Amino acid sequence: MHVRFMKISAFLKSMTSALILKKDFPFSVWHAPTFRCNLRCKYCELWKREAKEMGTEEIKEMMRFFRSKGTVVWNFTGGEPLLREDIGELIDYAKGLGFHTTLVTNGTLLGENMDKLMRLDTLILSLDGRRKVNDFLRGKGTYEKIVEGMRMLKEKGMRFDVDFVLSRWNSKEEEVTHVLELAKEFGARVNFLPMYTGYNVEEDESYRRVLPLIFGKYRRFVKTTRRFFERLKIKGKCFAGRNFLFIFPDGSVSPCLFREDLKIEHYERYEELQNPKGCSCVGLCYNTYNLLFSLDLKFILELLLKSLKSGPIL
Ligand SMILES: C[S@@+](CC[C@H](N)C(=O)[O-])C[C@H]1O[C@@H](n2cnc3c(N)ncnc32)[C@H](O)[C@@H]1O
Ligand code: SF4
Ligand code: SF4
Repeated sequence: MHVRFMKISAFLKSMTSALILKKDFPFSVWHAPTFRCNLRCKYCELWKREAKEMGTEEIKEMMRFFRSKGTVVWNFTGGEPLLREDIGELIDYAKGLGFHTTLVTNGTLLGENMDKLMRLDTLILSLDGRRKVNDFLRGKGTYEKIVEGMRMLKEKGMRFDVDFVLSRWNSKEEEVTHVLELAKEFGARVNFLPMYTGYNVEEDESYRRVLPLIFGKYRRFVKTTRRFFERLKIKGKCFAGRNFLFIFPDGSVSPCLFREDLKIEHYERYEELQNPKGCSCVGLCYNTYNLLFSLDLKFILELLLKSLKSGPIL
């Protein structure tokens, strides 16, 4: 309990210095150690990319570099991060340096990796609906594997969250309710991410159909804020490149995954990143951080209320 309190207070202290003192340091880093993937989800193109990958020691050096710059949160993403054989070692190293660690996975490789994931602060599994729709979007047999993984995690006492990508295929009451019921059963919370194409949200905005449900009786099991959906297409001030960054498998860096046009070859030169202009934020995590760093009062109030009721939402 004491350790947990210490961790939360260190997290809040760094956050406050970034927010109140407006210090420019990369508070949060998204790191894709690989773009390789064992799935071919209908709406994702990342697996098509060929990318040189950094070695274990190079990644450790990069982690030390960002820790010395004040980075607090290290987010493992991909591609499928569990395809990296050294992922356990990288998680342990990040934890050892004192990062708050998160990892998002397609959930199909949990079995063999279960023990490596136990030290993460936040584990996120991707699931897009009931068996038929999920498997249509994410691949045959994935539903079964993910739900099995959820059971194993529960048995081990490991908490997790769920990413649900809302698109025209699954922005339906039955699909959303099913995943929220699973979240209720497993003590998880669901991030709802509207499907993006480039830096645009899917044109038909079908996700709007399920907003009353998400923010109605199931709101306790939902991590995404209402404010996120309100701000989705507004081209507000962006803190990418200053307070958060995206690192590609080869160690190059850009403000976020969507602004590859601003990419710089080496992460050590991240301070040279240009301030992104002319785009609106569709990525859930980026948008959430932008709302936070712009001190959006409606958002901060919602964040505090949600955190008090069901635990921290960042
Ligand atoms: C890029 S994946 C990487 C981690 C892992 N492979 C997975 O699928 O969870 C991270 C998250 O982005 C989501 N995602 C992928 N393509 C997307 C898109 N076009 N729009 C919205 N979310 C997307 C995935 O479903 C997943 O929840
Ligand atoms: S599992 Fe993740 S990285 Fe792989 S194709 Fe699906 S969304 Fe993309
Ligand atoms: S607004 Fe910022 S975080 Fe959002 S897409 Fe543009 S550069 Fe990325």
